[in-house]
Amino acid sequence: MKPAVLVSRAVFPDIVDRLRAHFDVEDNPQDRVFTKAELIQRLAGKQGVFATGSERFDAEVLDANPQLKAVCNMAVGYNNIDVDACSARGVLCTNTPDVLTETTADFGFALMMATARRITESEHFLRRGEWKKWSYDMFTGGDVHGATLGILGMGRIGQGIARRGALGFGMKVIYHNRSRLAPDIEAGCRASYVSKEALLRDADHLVIVVPYSAASHHAIGAPELAQMKRSATLTNIARGGVVDDAALAQALAERRIAAAGLDVFEGEPALNPALLTVPNVVLTPHIASATIATRRAMANLAADNLIAALGFGPQAGHPPTPINAAALKG
Ligand code: DGY
Repeated sequence: MKPAVLVSRAVFPDIVDRLRAHFDVEDNPQDRVFTKAELIQRLAGKQGVFATGSERFDAEVLDANPQLKAVCNMAVGYNNIDVDACSARGVLCTNTPDVLTETTADFGFALMMATARRITESEHFLRRGEWKKWSYDMFTGGDVHGATLGILGMGRIGQGIARRGALGFGMKVIYHNRSRLAPDIEAGCRASYVSKEALLRDADHLVIVVPYSAASHHAIGAPELAQMKRSATLTNIARGGVVDDAALAQALAERRIAAAGLDVFEGEPALNPALLTVPNVVLTPHIASATIATRRAMANLAADNLIAALGFGPQAGHPPTPINAAALKG
């Protein structure tokens, strides 16, 4: 008998078929977002789950399903998984790093540019039929080329954004990170390490790429926004909760910073309603990794992880991108 697995959200049907070759698959083509109670119930009898960031795997879910061996996220971020609780119960967790780095860096840079150059704000003006004449100061924004790009969180995606800024747009790149990068990596993306205070003070365009954790909760709140230039922009492609959205909405309304670009939100898909009332913010629905090629690569990697974690396929017992490899159950 094949082991049973759950695919928690709708995903490319041919990739679900790859899983069916090894497993008895319960999938979710209707793409229902399960409540916690539904998730617990759907996991009954399942040895593994192909997950997305929208389900939370905590001690309660794990204790209700002690047969579960692997949680394989189709995302690089894994703040939806209590990894310590999984490790304590011998549940392997995996994510999908690398395959989305360049696509996500493209998007972060695009969102920063759209924010600096007021692309959506001016498009909305045009669509409302308000464009009647040319004016010298109509939708004037901040330059991107030659400006100072500040990056908070200098992992793979942050480095990708740094390279785009330095090599493509002649930007001066400064970054702050938990730990300083090795000199060769800094040189490769022409980036200089600075304190968080200097980052906030000197950046013309601040891009947030730091993973969400208790330590990064509200890393950017009212006190940090107060340290930024009034002409600066802030772009968040990391996770909701890294930025205090209420404080940001207030800073935008009071023009204490020029503009923001947000792909992620506290409590998404709900938004802080104040963000919808300010014109100087570009809002997108958590799509930084959303190209067909990259979403397919992420789904295939999550499937490879699940297949290997449960002891099948060419990498049996050695899932390619584990988070807590020591937890691999026999
Ligand atoms: C990730 O991979 O963590 C993205 O935010 C999900 O699309």
